[in-house]
Amino acid sequence: MIIDTDTASDDAVALIMALVNPDIEVLGITIVAGNVSLQQASINARYTVQLCGQTIPVYEGADRPLQRTPARAEFFHGDDGMGNMHYPVPEHPVETKPAVDALIETIRDNPGIILVTLGPMTNIANAVSKEPDIVNNVSRCVVMGGVACTVGNITPAAEFNIWCDPEAARICFHSGLPIEMVGWELCRGEANLVEAEIEQIKDAGVEGLGEFAVDINRIGYQINRELLGDPGMALPDPVAMAIAIDPDICVKQSRHYVDIECHGELTRGMTVVDQLNIAAEGGENVSMWEPLVKQGPPNVTVCWEIDAPRWKALLEQSVGRRFPG
Ligand code: BDR
Ligand code: CA
Repeated sequence: MIIDTDTASDDAVALIMALVNPDIEVLGITIVAGNVSLQQASINARYTVQLCGQTIPVYEGADRPLQRTPARAEFFHGDDGMGNMHYPVPEHPVETKPAVDALIETIRDNPGIILVTLGPMTNIANAVSKEPDIVNNVSRCVVMGGVACTVGNITPAAEFNIWCDPEAARICFHSGLPIEMVGWELCRGEANLVEAEIEQIKDAGVEGLGEFAVDINRIGYQINRELLGDPGMALPDPVAMAIAIDPDICVKQSRHYVDIECHGELTRGMTVVDQLNIAAEGGENVSMWEPLVKQGPPNVTVCWEIDAPRWKALLEQSVGRRFPG
């Protein structure tokens, strides 16, 4: 697996899940600016790698979106992106190779690799633009991004990662990558961790991993409950990572043509899912609107529903490093 991340609170938990899992070999972590600056995200990723007792290489990539003004989410993740916990500077160094080259080389050398994206898709867009053929080596590209049902978290129409760099997402969605879209809605409702479950994660944790996972997500937890009225702590990146590790956690999925809105005044970064396959080539055109042009074959597997208890069990297993066998 190779992971691209704008490491802040929930990204760090997703990293832990992959790093400690005996069935997953993480070949590299590439960093992109998003939730926090590139430098801060790099520090946060390297601190997390160190906490897991590992030396996985961390590569820095794009410090801004392809065209848009950089936007941060420090209000949600804290000034340090880690819930204002202000951990010590990690000893784990950053690699000198740029993230784009690391992505290209790692994917080229490892046919069948799983690519997981947890931030704006700038690095991935740069990599597939430079070496388009690498998409054929990726067996699954699990994307935490978008909203299939148009209930956004950064605007009413869009989810943060895609909104942040819509042009990059559009390149990736049309690149031939085998994208599995894990939208923001999948970490809401029963996928939220309520207080008792948060306590359980803390109790189950070893080597400080449980406390860490909870502490860094405390600000988001509060905002999620007080501003959005959701029941608990939402962990979008860990939900996507859970599906990357255990595909059966996604219990309902289907293939659709999905495009990214890059021009809309109200809809920047909206993931437009052709849910009824009216615009997809090969799909039954039930629309009576003459100008509707067939867009192309379905390009994305959209995840609609998860097995919430199974995702929470995997999270608990991960922070407790308790894996069968
Ligand atoms: C996504 O944006 C960030 O705030 C999270 O890390 C996650 O990747 C959720 O919209
Ligand atoms: Ca993220």
